[in-house]
Amino acid sequence: MVLKGRSLPRGSSRKSSSSTLIFSIMIICSFFVLILLALGILSVPSSSGDSPKAHDLSTIGHRTIPSDRRSESKDARADQWVEVISWEPRAVIYHNFLSQDECEYLINMAKPHMEKSTVVDSDTGKSKDSRVRTSSGTFLARGRDKTIRAIEKRIADFTFLPVDHGEGLQVLHYEVGQRYEPHFDYFQDEFNTQNGGQRMATVLMYLSDVEEGGETVFPSAKGNISAVPWWNELSDCGKEGLSVKPKMGDALLFWSMKPDASLDPSSLHGGCPVIKGNKWSSTKWIRVNDYNA
Ligand SMILES: *[C@@H]1O[C@H](CO)[C@@H](O)[C@H](O)[C@H]1NC(C)=O
Repeated sequence: MVLKGRSLPRGSSRKSSSSTLIFSIMIICSFFVLILLALGILSVPSSSGDSPKAHDLSTIGHRTIPSDRRSESKDARADQWVEVISWEPRAVIYHNFLSQDECEYLINMAKPHMEKSTVVDSDTGKSKDSRVRTSSGTFLARGRDKTIRAIEKRIADFTFLPVDHGEGLQVLHYEVGQRYEPHFDYFQDEFNTQNGGQRMATVLMYLSDVEEGGETVFPSAKGNISAVPWWNELSDCGKEGLSVKPKMGDALLFWSMKPDASLDPSSLHGGCPVIKGNKWSSTKWIRVNDYNA
């Protein structure tokens, strides 16, 4: 009786001491895991581990510059804000996207190299002269200098599309009477989509004001085209669709593709003839894939 009675508690105490040991080991182990986590030696796996850093958007917030500071230098950009002008096509204006200095810089870089503009021949995919496009222009290579890299970074932040998807910046000059008839920016041939795929979006930057005419017009835009605040300032050509008046430093972003990646025929657009003054603009076409520039 006595032996039996003593053997029982001895057995259960062995059991309870081994479970206490396992429990302690577990506590110590989790303590070490916590220390390793705290020191950053271990890390909790996360899906963003390998993906590139997201655009930080630091360059596109609504920034109001006090008027006394704005007049100090043309290097500073005036009030920056984004205005949605249409959902079909998807189009927004980014006001004061470029500073006056940046506009003048792009014009001066391009000026010595201006050539008569061409259009893409949809049969051969090659460039050809055309009566529908009477401007002159040139390309500035992607990433060619600090100013252009800064502008291209800002375009990527604005569009959420990587710098590597962009073609070189095209700078265009339209004199009185010069225009670009309505066209699509997307390609309807096989040749031009081999590098970078289809054109997805266009950022059109106005490098100068235009006294009269020179609007960017979307003749197939849905909605009330006369509801824009600048309706009464538009030329006859500008009143044939939804129009944007060129203003130095403003950038117009429109999409040639719908959100489902199908081509958007409402992105048809043209440049109205300049009636008075000069029009300088710069275009960034952005592809679906990386573009070898
Ligand atoms: C279009 O907008 C203008 C200006 O806001 C307005 O006067 C006109 O009634 C609108 N037209 C339609 C069809 O809604």
